[in-house]
Amino acid sequence: MLLRLWTVALVLAAFAGAVVDVKSRVDCYPEPGASQGACESRGCVWTPTGSDAPIGTPFCYYPRESGFKVQEQNIGHIQLTSGFANPYGNNYSPLDLAYSLNGKTILVTIGNSDRYVPPVGLPKGPSMSSETLNFVPGTIPGTDFFSFKVVRQSTGAVLWDTSIGGMQFADKFIQIATYLPTKNLFGFGDHVHKKLKHDLTRYTEWPMFARDIGPDSGSALSTQNLYGVHPFYLMVEGDGKTHGVLILNSNAQEVVTAPGPHLVYRTIGGRLDIAFFPGPTPEEVIQQYLQHIGRPFLPAYWALGYQLCRWGYQNLDEMKTVIQRNQAAGIPLDVPYADIDYMNHYEDFTEGGDWAGFPAYANELHQNGLHLIVIFDPAIEADYGSFQRAIDQGASFIEWDTDAQVPRQIQDQYPMAKNTKVMLGNVWPDRNTGFPDFLDTTDKTNNWWANEFSTFHQILPFDGMWIDMNEPSNFDTGTYSSVGSNLDASKLSCPISGPDATLDNPPYPTQAVFLHDGEHLSSKTLCMLGKTARRTMNFYDTKNLYGWSEARATYLALPKTTGRRGAIISRSTFISSGRYGGHWLGDNTARWEDLQTSVIGAMEFNFFGIPYVGSDICGFNGVSNEELCLRWHQMGAFHSFSRDHNTQGAPAQDPAVWPSVANAARIALNFRYYYLPYLYSLHYSASRYGHTVVRPLFFEFPHDSETLAISEQFMWGSGLMIAPALYQGMTSVHAYFPSATWYSLQPNNYGKVISAGFNDVPSPHDSLTPVFVRGGNILPRQANNQTTTDSRKNPLELLVALQPNGGASTGELYYDAGDDLLPNDNIENHARHHWTFTFTYSVGGGVLTGQCEKCANTVSVPTLDTIEVIGYPQAPNFDDFRLDGAKVLLNKSQSSWSGNRLIFTASRLINLQQRTQSSGTPKFTLSWTNM
Ligand SMILES: *[C@@H]1O[C@H](CO)[C@@H](O)[C@H](O)[C@H]1NC(C)=O
Ligand SMILES: *[C@@H]1O[C@H](CO)[C@@H](O)[C@H](O)[C@H]1NC(C)=O
Repeated sequence: MLLRLWTVALVLAAFAGAVVDVKSRVDCYPEPGASQGACESRGCVWTPTGSDAPIGTPFCYYPRESGFKVQEQNIGHIQLTSGFANPYGNNYSPLDLAYSLNGKTILVTIGNSDRYVPPVGLPKGPSMSSETLNFVPGTIPGTDFFSFKVVRQSTGAVLWDTSIGGMQFADKFIQIATYLPTKNLFGFGDHVHKKLKHDLTRYTEWPMFARDIGPDSGSALSTQNLYGVHPFYLMVEGDGKTHGVLILNSNAQEVVTAPGPHLVYRTIGGRLDIAFFPGPTPEEVIQQYLQHIGRPFLPAYWALGYQLCRWGYQNLDEMKTVIQRNQAAGIPLDVPYADIDYMNHYEDFTEGGDWAGFPAYANELHQNGLHLIVIFDPAIEADYGSFQRAIDQGASFIEWDTDAQVPRQIQDQYPMAKNTKVMLGNVWPDRNTGFPDFLDTTDKTNNWWANEFSTFHQILPFDGMWIDMNEPSNFDTGTYSSVGSNLDASKLSCPISGPDATLDNPPYPTQAVFLHDGEHLSSKTLCMLGKTARRTMNFYDTKNLYGWSEARATYLALPKTTGRRGAIISRSTFISSGRYGGHWLGDNTARWEDLQTSVIGAMEFNFFGIPYVGSDICGFNGVSNEELCLRWHQMGAFHSFSRDHNTQGAPAQDPAVWPSVANAARIALNFRYYYLPYLYSLHYSASRYGHTVVRPLFFEFPHDSETLAISEQFMWGSGLMIAPALYQGMTSVHAYFPSATWYSLQPNNYGKVISAGFNDVPSPHDSLTPVFVRGGNILPRQANNQTTTDSRKNPLELLVALQPNGGASTGELYYDAGDDLLPNDNIENHARHHWTFTFTYSVGGGVLTGQCEKCANTVSVPTLDTIEVIGYPQAPNFDDFRLDGAKVLLNKSQSSWSGNRLIFTASRLINLQQRTQSSGTPKFTLSWTNM
């Protein structure tokens, strides 16, 4: 009764336009300096709250009666008129809203046809789902203000409900707010998240604006916007069904996660292209999302090998010494790296004097089956060959808008740039740099970029590219109030007042600016008034696309340069960057907190369609230490991108520095290399079907609400679970095991079944990280060696984890040439072996079948020689194994059954290659009887 009275009171309050529940407020004064007077002059409500209110509750908030009203409504298209003043400019009135279906994805576009749309070419294709979502237009209850809902048809779950009010749409301030069905919110980036699941008990503002700043995992909460922009989230509903939402927009933007539960999304340009993905499983949400934005590139096989890097090698000899000592320590190693040290005065496409033997060393690495990745920055110094060729070839750079804005005191120092409007800044090179305009709508910039790579490749035969500083970063951006006012002779300065400052000093510059006192949108980057896309777009709208467009240009350059598949990693990323490259989690710090948050970051980038991701192992900034570096290798061996990287001046932290770290890294990486065929098959699934590779537990067990809170364990596909030790002094991991059959793969407990629920599992320094295979899976593997080039020469194996309830176990093997190109990105037709395996056990015996989805006999694939079945409950008759009915002779000295572990071997047991020579679908059946 009490509760009901309270509800009535709330409804009455809403009618009266007065107090909104402290949990459901939409901030009407998100910039600093809110006061009652300033708030009320916006037509908003001011109600200070006590300390019992959720953290971050705004005092100034929109009344429910806010937003837009319907002027005209047709199916698929609604015209709105503004019903409430926008504090930051006049609202569009009329404002267009359109909704439609793309397969099972609902697309809602808010914004008139004159609005900027990022040129990323979305959506890619219609989604499929067993579920249907409905767009339901309506009004805010008790008012005539427009609102809409997105409802799941099967359950009635309301995924979005904008009746919370606060909608705005002016040229430079757009806002939409919605209630959420639950607090199970995951995603949005690029930020440090201390937990995988957002904390919706409080209000938290997350700016999204690409920025050169390292993740701060040390503080309790850092909302700092990092290198990339991913306005995408997943939400698990009350019944475990999951949906996803993308808000496509490339301007400076932010989201407030709030206790309603609700979200407030703001951006300062473009329009809102909102896509709702129905799931209903988390994995299907990602598949639908990647259908929409484009699926990730397939890295070369060698790029899944271990990588060793540092900034601050004094010379080539130091690099050689470090690589050599790790090889001598038995650390599997595929990819040595060079950071900017190798360049001549940090100029792209050059090599410095102390690196004279680098090309010969690259050849030596190749001869030993290794590969080389080196760094390239986007900024090009305005006084050397690469810049001159850009000008000669008509490549485009980011430019000033008008001639009058060009700072002559800088430009006139550079004959090559003197007669251009190229906006010059300062990055690593000694003198000023221009920033290539990779959004150029002609091919000239991308062609010049590709030519620079291929010309340089003839000198230094690298195999992959590491693109950094592409937010883009500019070191010392200043500001000015009037042209000529004491401008520095080399420093890029942007206007912050006067008619030129409309883009650099917009009415609401976003939380990205408020986080740093005295800063502007241009801080650490270029002026917002810059022109991009060959002067057709503004940097203000496209800044967040810089890393994306550089990754695309580099992805196009790679095959022209090396003729082979490789890998690109990019620091700045945007929606759909995964099509072109991977990502490392940025300039982290050698701290335990950074190890912990990197586990979360890698899962999030899998949500974003960038599965080739990992952190700088041992930590980049600061001084690492033995225990941290050891644990980081044990964990980092399970990230797709697995690289130790260190900053300039810090003591060496390659595994060979400490015998204990070398030992742990060897064990972890040997395991990784053993299971690389599985990891590579998962990447194939990601590239072809839009799957995740590293995924959280809740992706596999969304109906187990306990899994939603697990931030420190992760899975490889559906088959392996990793529970790394992430805290100092730990000797065991308190890990959660969802209801399934988990077999330990740790040597001391090999094959042991772990019971469901929380368990303490040992995590010694000198053994394998806790890793568990899930019953019902078949994982392909291949004996490890020091490089993938050598490990790929070994026979293949299968690990079958028995499903104890009598169900089948299944798995896949994808195998190809490893570094051949995928012409036109056509993965469907790419020459490969793609086998699916099924195993069933009965009291009478076991049956393993294999069938090829597509097997090209041009692709050489090793024979399948060894099969291991974990959980096999009965002794088999080793004299009665048959392949397609014919008896096979096993190598008995390598075949055994004990403690539920069955393993058997025969030289060339199953010749996968040979089977593709015969007509019809290649397949096999291997069966045996039990004793
Ligand atoms: C590793 O590769 C080397 C060089 O090809 C080879 O001699 C050696 O036998 C391989 N070892 C294993 C265990 O595969
Ligand atoms: C069986 O395995 C043993 C030991 O691993 C090996 O020495 C032998 O050559 C193998 N026999 C056959 C027939 O492959």
